[in-house]
Amino acid sequence: MSEAAPLVLVSNRGPVTFDDDGSFTRGSGGLVTALTGLASHREAVWIASAMTDGDVAKARENGGVPFDVRTPDGSEYQVRLVTSDAEAYERFYNVFANPMLWFIQHYLWDLSNAPDIRRHEVEAFEYGYNVVNEDLAEAVVEQIAGDEEPVVMVHDYHLYTLPGLVRKARPDVFLHHFIHIPWTQPDAWRVLPTRIRHEIFEGLLANDIIGFHTRSYRWNFLQCCRDLMDLDVDFEKGIVICGDREVWVRAYPLPIDYRATQKVARSARTKQFESELLRRRRDHLILRVDRADLSKNVLRGFSAFDLFLEQHPEFREKVTFIAQLMPSRMDVPEYAEYLERIEALVAVVNHRHGTPDWMPIQLKLRDDLEEAVAAYKHYDVMIVNAMFDGMNLVAKEGPLVNERSGVSILSENTGAHEELGRCALSVNPFDIQETADSIHAALTMSQDERRRRADGLKEIVTARDPGDWIDEQIADIRAKGVAKIGTGDAG
Ligand code: G6P
Repeated sequence: MSEAAPLVLVSNRGPVTFDDDGSFTRGSGGLVTALTGLASHREAVWIASAMTDGDVAKARENGGVPFDVRTPDGSEYQVRLVTSDAEAYERFYNVFANPMLWFIQHYLWDLSNAPDIRRHEVEAFEYGYNVVNEDLAEAVVEQIAGDEEPVVMVHDYHLYTLPGLVRKARPDVFLHHFIHIPWTQPDAWRVLPTRIRHEIFEGLLANDIIGFHTRSYRWNFLQCCRDLMDLDVDFEKGIVICGDREVWVRAYPLPIDYRATQKVARSARTKQFESELLRRRRDHLILRVDRADLSKNVLRGFSAFDLFLEQHPEFREKVTFIAQLMPSRMDVPEYAEYLERIEALVAVVNHRHGTPDWMPIQLKLRDDLEEAVAAYKHYDVMIVNAMFDGMNLVAKEGPLVNERSGVSILSENTGAHEELGRCALSVNPFDIQETADSIHAALTMSQDERRRRADGLKEIVTARDPGDWIDEQIADIRAKGVAKIGTGDAG
């Protein structure tokens, strides 16, 4: 990679999503949060799929070459949007990536019932997943044409076969793949037909380095390489031997861009939401902010609150549970059904405990960063009880800006737990009674204890930023043998 060449990032979702009228909104989810922070540290071209009609129009308008985008938080990017055939994209996104891979990687399949693998699923891999990977790979190869020793950073579970394709076209490329979601144990992968599983692992193992959020995901991946692919693995060093190549497997826990989040916390729009929230605030506020995803364990969170109210009637009318959930992947039937179940359970709990004057659970089905940050500032308890989840950046953002020494209830199966667990109340996400007890413990905890934990959380989440995260990865890229890698500092 020449000194001046920018980093090339490739992911399915890009930093922004365009509407039909050309306006755009920030993409949602952990991946966009992670990579958006990066633009202020490095010059980068971000290659992504055109996901909406507005994206497709924008890609066409720019003739497939990168264009500048200034994201709502002020980061500047060169973005290149890649349009795939609509039917192929539908199979890629709504059948294979979500739910198939997502469910395997979060242990979400209820195996006695699902999934059934038929032609529909196999064809979704062949004529959907692989096609979109080929389209993005072609754009990557075009983007790095002429670069010496190019470095490409690939992101997430949508792009497992892309590295093999890029490697074939450019054997000299350095490929670094970061996976933002958990890596599950070998048996979870046995759901996939062997041939598909092999294609996925072969694609991934064309990378030079594969990164995960936690040591445990890294460990599971190494186990899969040994048990499913029969490869030699050095567990201590985190190396998979593939013929004459070595693939390094590393853990790089993702930090938040805490300065950017603090800035949002100071914004006028956040303050407007805050005053509205404070006007309606009861003695205690419990908060959760998530995409409406099955992995987030929203239903058990509400069941725990239900149980808590039943067992501690003294809290009735004194506490509100705000759940801000962004509807997600609504064309996938499992997600649409999940949202219906959430709404039904909220109705049951509100009916069971509510009074004419008090609605125990307030459900907000929307994606609004400032509204969420306003609530972060004022919760007493934040619940992040995901069953299994990649990092869970919310667990870092909340404590950063919270002004009430709020307590975090944190599932031991979230990625963030490896870093934050010692300052949170850890819960087994399946244990509803334990979660209910933790709500009670958090709401009755002494002020000193709350402050001690809250200060600890703040210290941890401000210790590193996305610049450090990317630097750790670049240090490994250098160490693994790229003679020079452009600093490409954005300045
Ligand atoms: C998770 C995934 C990301 C994804 C995000 C939002 O954070 O790791 O790759 O972009 O969810 O999901 P969506 O399907 O809307 O892109």
